[in-house]
Amino acid sequence: MSNFIMAQQNSRVISGDDKIFGINKLAQDMAAKVGKKNVVNATIGSLLDDDGNLIVLSSIVEVLRSLTPAEYADYAPIAGVPAFLETVKTAAFGNYRPEGYMEAVATPGGTGAIRNTIQNYSKRGDVVLTSDWYWSPYKTIAEEIERKIGTYTLFDDNGHFNVHSLETRISELLSKQDSVVVLFNAPAHNPTGFSPSQEDWDAIVLMLKKLSLDKTKNIIFFVDIAYIDFAGNPEKSRAFMPKLSGLPENVLVVFGFSMSKGYTLYGMRSGAMICLTQSKAIADEFKMVCMFSNRGSWSNGTRPAMMALVKVYEDAALLERVTEQRETYSDFLAKRGESFMAAAAETGLKTCPFDSGYFITVPCDDAEEVGKALQTHGIFVVPIGKGLRVAISAISADACRIVALKMAELIKS
Ligand SMILES: Cc1ncc(COP(=O)(O)O)c(C=O)c1O
Repeated sequence: MSNFIMAQQNSRVISGDDKIFGINKLAQDMAAKVGKKNVVNATIGSLLDDDGNLIVLSSIVEVLRSLTPAEYADYAPIAGVPAFLETVKTAAFGNYRPEGYMEAVATPGGTGAIRNTIQNYSKRGDVVLTSDWYWSPYKTIAEEIERKIGTYTLFDDNGHFNVHSLETRISELLSKQDSVVVLFNAPAHNPTGFSPSQEDWDAIVLMLKKLSLDKTKNIIFFVDIAYIDFAGNPEKSRAFMPKLSGLPENVLVVFGFSMSKGYTLYGMRSGAMICLTQSKAIADEFKMVCMFSNRGSWSNGTRPAMMALVKVYEDAALLERVTEQRETYSDFLAKRGESFMAAAAETGLKTCPFDSGYFITVPCDDAEEVGKALQTHGIFVVPIGKGLRVAISAISADACRIVALKMAELIKS
């Protein structure tokens, strides 16, 4: 039964305010009362400086300002500006371009790529698979188009990547569905900061080859690389990509690229989906169905953001500036992670396996309760089911230490 007055439920569970933005608001209200410096707001996944101001790459701002009216104001083609569709492959893969047929389609952020993948490669009512720790909009996006989210266990008891759980859940789903879409966020996974090792990737590839022996079933492996440019060394973080070359034709790899984090253009809503397959026909079909989805949902993407990426990659000196600026902030972020993890090690605070990125997660049975207790100390983090997510992207290295110490104290008590 629907609780709505006029709206239609359409099998979605709609619970009102977004949790993360709700806690962020509580932090802001407290800051207004007791002063900003007495509040640690580790809720929002944007990169902020130590004073809580949004970091925007000035090199990107300059490029945007240099665009001519026709470059920024005209419609982009439905698939995206052609030069962007080539450039985005270089931006996504760098020196690690996989081999196979690749087609790209522009989307509004990585979110659009996720949506189009689910829409085109699963059926209504299907279960889309992701890890038990996951970015909650995956569920929203899936439910919005009448799919469900199912999960596998990301880590085994020793805190290692649990490829067996992934394999088991994919084969379970393939016994009931014709295909399964797997949403795999790496490197610098949100919310844990986990990045699979090269061996983990080898195990994934082996597993995909094994499960695809049944040619009546399809696996769509969506690699969500939203954090690729803030996952430590940009070469090392891309080294896994060529491993995904040469998979059987019934495994389609789709990379979800985002300009939100890597180019600090969160609000410009720009990204792309790039497929990788051994079949030209499947790549062509990918392009056709994703263009249809673009037209039938948001129409065209954001032209100025696409043009900005093109201009950056056309100009070697500019690209160097963007890379340098990003590296500075990436080092900043890494220091925050080190500060949190050092304090966690000192106090015996257990975290999910953390490598890099915007978030660290602390597993915790009473996440809601501990989250509320932290708030009384002016610390705001996000309870996510069986843990607490700390957005280290939004707080200083000193604050990271303070948060870890207080969490350790409260969890012990
Ligand atoms: C795991 C993950 N995937 C994808 C995205 C996509 O973001 P956007 O749509 O802004 O590119 C985000 C953003 O926070 C994310 O955390």
